[in-house]
Amino acid sequence: MKIEVLTLFPDMFSAVMSESMMWKARDRGLLDFHARDIRDFTQDKHRQVDDAPYGGGGGMILKPDVLVRTIEAVKGATDTPVILLSPQGRRLTHELATELSRLPRLILVCGRYEGVDERVRELAISDEISIGDYVLTGGELAAMVLIDAVVRLIPGVLGADGAQHRDSHADGLLEGPHYTRPPEFRGLGVPDALTSGNHAGVDRWRRRQAIKRTWQRRPDLLERADLSDADRAYLAELEAGQVD
Ligand code: ADE
Repeated sequence: MKIEVLTLFPDMFSAVMSESMMWKARDRGLLDFHARDIRDFTQDKHRQVDDAPYGGGGGMILKPDVLVRTIEAVKGATDTPVILLSPQGRRLTHELATELSRLPRLILVCGRYEGVDERVRELAISDEISIGDYVLTGGELAAMVLIDAVVRLIPGVLGADGAQHRDSHADGLLEGPHYTRPPEFRGLGVPDALTSGNHAGVDRWRRRQAIKRTWQRRPDLLERADLSDADRAYLAELEAGQVD
């Protein structure tokens, strides 16, 4: 997958894209990442990227000529999706990240200041994505969140085991609790089901814990989760207070 980010602060991406899984994805040739500096596409002496809003009011707006020129230069004659990171976009979810992970190439546009000139949206943006209902000072951190969520879903990035299918949200449920050694820590043990050596028992226990945790913390997710008859029976027991 190729991801190009258009930003006024390309250096913000250096550390995040050079460590851990993002670096492994690049090193293994699974991700081709570039941060392009919007300022490099200015054509005036002062390399101006923003201007005051028409109608007055505070803040500065990213100029449409510079931003559209940047997008067109990077995109070329391709039909690559151009995604603007903005608090007005549709919400990033595991489902959306999965869809994006199947695309060969993405261009991410990071807004700054008060926003971008509306004509950029009309002329050059194909999708707008938000990472949550709060406002960041710019789209860079949001772009990094999106990239991390998407790239870890590319086959081969997390290793052969493909641990993605166990993620919280992958099947509409939160993950249950995890334990590792020692078997006892500060008086707290490990559930017997996990140490029994009975694989079917472990799977059953994990499934129930996932349902229980989702029911306790994010009951809204249960409406859309893919539940079997056995799952529903367990949920009914939880709701009736018959299990703890
Ligand atoms: N830019 C500023 N706030 C944002 C948000 N919540 N999501 C995506 N991009 C943003």
